[in-house]
Amino acid sequence: MTRVFSGVKPTGHLTLGNYLGALRRWAEVDQHQADALFCVVDLHALTVDHDPARVRRLSRQAATLLLASGLDPRRCTVFVQSHVDEHARLSYLLECVATDGEMRRMIQYKEKAAREQARGGSVRLSLLTYPVLMAADILAYGTDEVPVGDDQTQHVELARDLAVRFNHRYGHTFVVPKATSPKVAARVMNLQDPASKMGKSDDSGPGIVYLLDEPEVTRKKIMRAVTDSGQDVVHDREGRPGIANLLEILAACTGGDPEELAGGYASYGALKKDTAEAVVELLGPVRERHRELCADPGFVEGVLRAGAEKARAMARPTVDAAYRAIGLLPA
Ligand code: TYM
Repeated sequence: MTRVFSGVKPTGHLTLGNYLGALRRWAEVDQHQADALFCVVDLHALTVDHDPARVRRLSRQAATLLLASGLDPRRCTVFVQSHVDEHARLSYLLECVATDGEMRRMIQYKEKAAREQARGGSVRLSLLTYPVLMAADILAYGTDEVPVGDDQTQHVELARDLAVRFNHRYGHTFVVPKATSPKVAARVMNLQDPASKMGKSDDSGPGIVYLLDEPEVTRKKIMRAVTDSGQDVVHDREGRPGIANLLEILAACTGGDPEELAGGYASYGALKKDTAEAVVELLGPVRERHRELCADPGFVEGVLRAGAEKARAMARPTVDAAYRAIGLLPA
């Protein structure tokens, strides 16, 4: 059976981008078709300036939202990264296979490091090695497929490269994984700045639809989305990025095709209205289940405890094999 692994980083409240690019597919497809693990990758949240209490709060909230999105602990394994030591153990070995140049070429590193420096802050070393830890997350489980949004494909490519290199040098140890992304909405853009990704750690609240936004707030954000000059509704990512983004969101929500949907609209206003309603309708049940789960925190904790135990048992043999293959003396 195909092994699937994916994760979400608790650096902010989860967004419509996370849902359409990743979570929804995990719940609707992956957990039914594969042996799947989904992880709140809390160690990754420590790579930029962070507040410990906030990371803890966001980790719990992200885990609750994974379940609220429809992940069923009877069908898949849901856990928190720091509960399973194998991720950090394997990450060090992979640092001994990765190169400094490779890390510095990562787009997200370049962007985030530049942002930290512009703020006058310093860049944590862990921000540079982040993709190695991500590779460890993936390779520890013998993962075949990694369902992610577009922004993560370069990182998954690196995990592939490291797996191939390790296997070549030290003998076959890792499955070589590949990224999969959704056909539409693989990169949901910020509603106020359609040239940038809708990212949960960004500051521009009005351009980001959060999964837990009240319906009225969601409607307002979508109705106020920046559109392009012009009148006709066409799906043109380059020329009309604002409208293309709304068409993609609508298509992802309704199961339609952005090009075909474009033909049905005579004005931007009507498109915005339908998009807002489609998003509100899609997220309604998630918010509802989130509310129910918050009333039963013991349930979520139990899921995470059992998930970590299962994950540990799955990762340990591969990580132990990597320790032996690379030349470490067995304990
Ligand atoms: P993160 O937490 O930024 O995002 C979680 C998932 O949501 C997708 N996503 C989007 N998809 C479409 N449009 C958007 N605007 C958008 N924003 C986010 C992401 O592509 C991702 O699939 N490094 C990863 C977390 C990670 C991971 C892993 C993922 C750590 N280890 C191992 C897979 C496998 C990250 O920061 O995702």
